Amino acid sequence: MADSQRHPFLHGLSKHRGAPPTVVVIFGASGDLTARKLIPAVYNLGVDNLLPTDFHLVGYGRKEIPDDEFRGLAKDAIKEFSRRELDDESWGRISANTTYVAGGYDDLQAFERLASHIDKIEQQVGRDVQSLFYISTPPSVFAPILKNLGAAGLAGKHLGKPHHAKVIIEKPFGRNLESARELNGTIRSVFEEHQVYRIDHYLGKETVQDLLVQRFSNAIFEPLWNRNFIDSVQITVSEEVGVGSRGGYYEQSGALRDMIQNHTMQLLALTAMEPPVSLDAESIRDEKVKLLKAIQPLNIGPNGDVARAQYSAGMIGGKEVRGYLEEEGIAADSKTETYAALRMSINNWRWQGVPFYLRSGKRMARRVSEIAINFKRPPGTLFADSEKFNLANNTLAFQIQPDEGLSMILNAKIPGLETRTQPVKMNFRYATTFGSNTPEAYERLVLDAMIGDGTLFIRGDEAETSWKLCTPILDAWSEAGREVMESYPAGSWGPAGSDALLAKNNQLWRQP
Ligand SMILES: NC(=O)c1ccc[n+]([C@@H]2O[C@H](COP(=O)([O-])OP(=O)(O)OC[C@H]3O[C@@H](n4cnc5c(N)ncnc54)[C@H](OP(=O)(O)O)[C@@H]3O)[C@@H](O)[C@H]2O)c1
Repeated sequence: MADSQRHPFLHGLSKHRGAPPTVVVIFGASGDLTARKLIPAVYNLGVDNLLPTDFHLVGYGRKEIPDDEFRGLAKDAIKEFSRRELDDESWGRISANTTYVAGGYDDLQAFERLASHIDKIEQQVGRDVQSLFYISTPPSVFAPILKNLGAAGLAGKHLGKPHHAKVIIEKPFGRNLESARELNGTIRSVFEEHQVYRIDHYLGKETVQDLLVQRFSNAIFEPLWNRNFIDSVQITVSEEVGVGSRGGYYEQSGALRDMIQNHTMQLLALTAMEPPVSLDAESIRDEKVKLLKAIQPLNIGPNGDVARAQYSAGMIGGKEVRGYLEEEGIAADSKTETYAALRMSINNWRWQGVPFYLRSGKRMARRVSEIAINFKRPPGTLFADSEKFNLANNTLAFQIQPDEGLSMILNAKIPGLETRTQPVKMNFRYATTFGSNTPEAYERLVLDAMIGDGTLFIRGDEAETSWKLCTPILDAWSEAGREVMESYPAGSWGPAGSDALLAKNNQLWRQP
């Protein structure tokens, strides 16, 4: 039986979410992301019969690669990275319509060649075909690609018709508020906002989408989702890996840019936003922006709302690993943080007085992404004897990765002849309930962009609002010397300064 028939997530998709005839053009087609995520995503959509009948894939890059060789590279990528094994019949259908165009990113003539290539595909198909441009290159060439898409007439293709051109832009969306505004300016000079899909692949993950379902479809949560019942919210995105061979890239980035500004801020917005009036893209994005705008400016000074650190040597999985400053490509006096934590306050009716803690780091004790909602304690009159009554705050945790699911900490009586209590955990795991072959985030996102559903993508004003909060922190860190950089041993849960952010409110980080 095909996965599309038995996988519960896929029921109904092929019938109700059909994409029009489409040519997906990947800029940076010889790159790492294309091989690891994009080609496997297209392939798995094909296996699930979710690609339109007239689907074409075009790779674009500076290297001269014959069509056959590109198809071979794509096939190898599927063999290595796809969640499902290569099935020759499924791949054959995509491969027959897979081609490659060589050209520079700042070369208008090459873009005109690309335009003719797409015209030929359209003639072959015999009707309008929508173009979906996926910019999967380093950010230094985002602007030339966008400008040339405009100059070659590709951005405006079929504008005003249902099959208008669309563009997906990979992260990072700018390095700070100024560059994000500049990039938005370039995009808007060429595309209309409804044509633009800024990707944050976290939004394609099942548990992130489940957050909306849990919040707004279960009567038990929404009445409690406010300052009267919630004590604090902790959002953690931690990795066990260090910078590996990507030290040069990471030196220009750091934890705040790489994770906090995009992924954790998105998780925060979805957790804390008001109920949208509908599930359409604009309603949800309006609520996210409103929420981000209600976050108070952070106190960046000493003993303020921020902590940053670099990992020192330590142990990961029983093995000794080196510190950040000893990694390949890292300056001896590097000021790039591998860990960042923030304490945020949201100044609105629902959340005033509830701290939101965000943290992200490399070389931490465990790889995990989760949102933990910590509820207040009930009055302690009945179970006051701390010897007999081991009690925890109720915590609802959305685990985004690995092992996607939802858990709830409750207090329960220990079986026996006297009343003693202990916290217990209730677990829901996607893999156990629905099977483990969940579509990857990129599959959902590529399909949504083909269909024209922008719900799981970031709008331009959302990106800028998030940068508005993070840029003053980056500026202060870049001005400060290394003496304000803390360190934490690899394999730990981060530096003392991060614990101090919570200690002010008599709270502790959860150990997921
Ligand atoms: N890799 C990931 O897991 C990942 C995850 C999330 C987001 N992203 C984002 O996705 C985008 C692509 O990532 P990637 O890892 O695939 O990048 P990449 O492998 O470094 O580059 C992709 C392609 O872009 C072209 N390119 C590389 N450097 C260039 C330069 N300096 N000037 C012009 N073209 C250049 C190359 O193609 P040609 O030489 O053939 O033109 C290369 O194959 C980036 O924006 C990245 O931040 C990546």
